[in-house]
Amino acid sequence: MFQTFYRRFLEANPGVQHFACHSHYYWPDITRQAMLDYWDDSARFVDDKWDYWFSEKIPAVQQHIARVLNTEQPEQIVFAPNTHEFVFRLMTCLPFDRPISILTTDSEFHSFNRQSRRFEELANVTVHRVPAAPFETFNQRFEQALASQHYDMVFLSHVFFNSGVQVDALPQLVNAVQDDDTMVVIDGYHAFMAVPVDLSEIKHRVFYLAGGYKYAQGGEGGCFMHVPKGSAQRPLYTGWFAEFGELSQSKGNEVSYSKDAMRFAGSTMDFSALYRLHSVFELFAEHRLDVRQIDGFIKQRQQQFLTHIDGLHSPWLNRQRLIQHDAQLHGHFLAFELDNEQQVGKLQAYLHAHNIATDGRGKRLRFGFALYHDGLQYDLSCIKEFSGE
Ligand SMILES: Cc1ncc(COP(=O)(O)O)c(C=O)c1O
Repeated sequence: MFQTFYRRFLEANPGVQHFACHSHYYWPDITRQAMLDYWDDSARFVDDKWDYWFSEKIPAVQQHIARVLNTEQPEQIVFAPNTHEFVFRLMTCLPFDRPISILTTDSEFHSFNRQSRRFEELANVTVHRVPAAPFETFNQRFEQALASQHYDMVFLSHVFFNSGVQVDALPQLVNAVQDDDTMVVIDGYHAFMAVPVDLSEIKHRVFYLAGGYKYAQGGEGGCFMHVPKGSAQRPLYTGWFAEFGELSQSKGNEVSYSKDAMRFAGSTMDFSALYRLHSVFELFAEHRLDVRQIDGFIKQRQQQFLTHIDGLHSPWLNRQRLIQHDAQLHGHFLAFELDNEQQVGKLQAYLHAHNIATDGRGKRLRFGFALYHDGLQYDLSCIKEFSGE
């Protein structure tokens, strides 16, 4: 039904069943024109292109994102080429002249996991990691941890990258953070443009990170963060874009920062990713396609896929191996747990040799579902011949 949006990527990959879309979505054809527009605008405006981008293009993308997040605060969105830049920038706001405590989970993406482990090597930094599983009790265990002490930062995913499980009652968890000075950061990369997100109740409290190369379908290089209004943090890792617009008051010779989300900006970046992102938002708007509809479509594809594999009676890929908490509270990929990482590697390579693209995370094999899938055409019958060797 939506396959016409993706004609060029589909034609470039004939016969491929692409289940790695939760990692890198195919780009809609319209993004190709966006790249050309970026070039043409650069030629047309030359030195004035920055003014054009900051006065027209960027506000237009901010509007779309603020609408999807339901914040009504487009000026509180800032961009960076990747989420790691934001992760590090946020961490440099922490008060390093005293002991620092961070609360997170054991299921955060590498950008945060690796960076927090490196910070932990400093004598004054402690990181507490709450296991995501068992998912039924996650909220309760996380709330208990929140109640047990003061934290300088709380960092957690909206949808976990290694299971696809969505954190339920996010506002309730956020409101359980005791201290107003705790920075609350939500990694929304696997939620944004996949499952409906509503930050209206917590927009004053959370930093929300996400980006373009998964479900927003704009490719790499276009990440963003919603910054709570009135944020007074002064990141140590700061670039010249952070003093755009109206500045907040600074003491003496102190470096000043923008009053809005730009205080979390870095510096010169390639804005072509935002052109692509913008074109995808416009495409969906033109077709009146919203996240709720996209989510409904994908959930149907997931059920069709499960029905298909039921019929294959595979010992490797079946519902018993599925990591699932509540089908409705799930992101856009399904994760199957095998016996060990080697098995995942072998099965992934076997499927790849049969034109079936998936990806693995440790013991888990992940299958993502996309708007360009026709569920009735799923065919994993080759798995019947997989021996595990
Ligand atoms: C949960 C999550 N956050 C962030 C990222 C991307 O991180 P970065 O932008 O630092 O490459 C990913 C990528 O797979 C992810 O799964």
